[in-house]
Amino acid sequence: MCGIVGIVALSDIIREPIGRIIRRCLERLEYRGYDSAGIAVIEGSKLVVKKGKGKIQELAKKLEFDHTHGIVGIGHTRWATHGKPSDENAHPHVDCTGTIAVVHNGIISNYLELRHELESKGHVFKSETDTEVIAHLVEEYLRQGLPVFEAFKRAVARLEGTYAIAMITTLEPGKIFFARLTSPLVIGVGDGLKLVASDIPAVLEYTNRVIVLRDGEIGYVTPTEIYIEHNGKPVDWKQRVRVITWSLDMASKGGYPHFMLKEIHEQPLALVNTLSGIEISQIKEVCKLIESADRIFITGAGTSYHAGLVAEYLLVELAGVDVHTFIASEYRKFLNLADDGDVLIAISQSGETIDTLMAVRAFKTRGCRIIAISNVVDSTIPRESDIAVYTRAGPEIGVAATKTFTTQIAVLTVISLVLARERGMLRPDEYNFLMSQLQEVPKLVETIIRMHEPKCQVLAKYLKDKTNVYYLGRGLGVPIAMEGALKLKEIAYIHAEAYPAGESKHGPIALVETGYPVVFTVLDDYYVDAIVGNVMEMKARDAFTIALVPRKYVTKFGKLCDFVFEMPNIDYRLSPIPYIVPLQLLAYHTSVLRGLDPDKPRNLAKTVTVE
Ligand code: F6R
Repeated sequence: MCGIVGIVALSDIIREPIGRIIRRCLERLEYRGYDSAGIAVIEGSKLVVKKGKGKIQELAKKLEFDHTHGIVGIGHTRWATHGKPSDENAHPHVDCTGTIAVVHNGIISNYLELRHELESKGHVFKSETDTEVIAHLVEEYLRQGLPVFEAFKRAVARLEGTYAIAMITTLEPGKIFFARLTSPLVIGVGDGLKLVASDIPAVLEYTNRVIVLRDGEIGYVTPTEIYIEHNGKPVDWKQRVRVITWSLDMASKGGYPHFMLKEIHEQPLALVNTLSGIEISQIKEVCKLIESADRIFITGAGTSYHAGLVAEYLLVELAGVDVHTFIASEYRKFLNLADDGDVLIAISQSGETIDTLMAVRAFKTRGCRIIAISNVVDSTIPRESDIAVYTRAGPEIGVAATKTFTTQIAVLTVISLVLARERGMLRPDEYNFLMSQLQEVPKLVETIIRMHEPKCQVLAKYLKDKTNVYYLGRGLGVPIAMEGALKLKEIAYIHAEAYPAGESKHGPIALVETGYPVVFTVLDDYYVDAIVGNVMEMKARDAFTIALVPRKYVTKFGKLCDFVFEMPNIDYRLSPIPYIVPLQLLAYHTSVLRGLDPDKPRNLAKTVTVE
């Protein structure tokens, strides 16, 4: 995830250097990315680009953003996906002639093909990013004699993936060209001034009138004009101008009261970006390493450890490999086993968690090869690993991990499926079927949020006064129960424990009395009868039972349980992502009803860098 902005204004409207305006807009988008930033402004007839690695405030000082003058400019704050954070990879990106500048949020999944094609035509690339192809593509179509807007449209039509783009050029210096597919983009409608931006907070200081662009829309703005097309036909946008009444603070959370809720709702997009950003050639490399290993170890802390438990289940069941998963701080448990024939998969959204880093370093001393799964490009753990696979969830500000958990599982599921296929454990038709169901998961998550959030709010009213909750599951339902319990514990401060449901009779059930909440995660047909038995045991002790079950079992569990969440009938091996979503929402709403701040739970830090 990145933040983009563009502004174009009449010269008598603009009363301060445009670089300062762009800098302030970018500061309001910094929650979308903060590893590098840059601006491009047309000063007189020249395109001036200032960009680099680092935080906006430091760069603005160093590169003198505030002393850049003009009436049109664009800016970018980056969250690296393709290419590590560096001065070269920072946006804006320019073409060979230095007359076109582009900023982009999203992922161009066919950028390698486009880059090879453009290089064969003589274009010279300066960065490792996917975005740079856009500037060169436009240049290429201009070379063929097309007018700027036509060249821009032709270039955008070649792109696959997700994008919000803003482009300026000295050839038409009073315009910002834009396009949107999946990644968000809004237009700020001022008098004698127009803005384009990834999110509303960036424009609010200058106008409270906005148009939220829709997928497939493309066009340009001038200080006094807005032109939008869809499928080649002009769009009548006048009825779509919204007046924003939010405060600036609310706006930086996209209108959500907390970052955590925003990040839960962002999961469909984070999953689309992660799945579309996966390079199968890299996954095959990962699989080759796993295939050549004697033993596979997986490690992580907290939520990342739970993603590791899901991966262990999938790798064993789908691909038939020998896996040992351990909590990062307990790495010594397996260290004596590890040698140079083994592989360690280290999962860490931040890439900086000290326990996970220590495990990585210790296993490296034994000669193990390391595969990192992380959300932060070029952070320490990926840097010290043999292969780094990145999730593309964008920055997570809320302390509790949500979208980074589901995107970690998405990556680990793809690895398990590809490995299973390569090892002949899945037939091509089974593999294709599961892969295509996986692509549907982001949509399912969207539906689950819509259908189940009101139910979570009702259930939260019941949970808010409780002191203990059990989360019970079997098979893949166990790590999901563990993650659900962790969420409730850390942000609602309610004691929540997870167990394999079969274990409940070996001790935990002793605590159960009237009204004791017990949440069941039912993913797999194989365990349905056993879990029905566990529900009956809890009911016999007057527990308050809640179950997440596939649609086909709703009637069965509806008769037994006090509360049932209907979940999609998909292959249970793809269910961990959808199943965690209602449990995240439940924890969030319980926290809010208890008067707590879910974004900043007491005693916790987003990244734990001390042992
Ligand atoms: C829980 C949570 C933590 C992290 C853990 C590991 O909501 O966020 O349990 O999962 O501290 O962090 P990373 O993944 O950055 O290594």
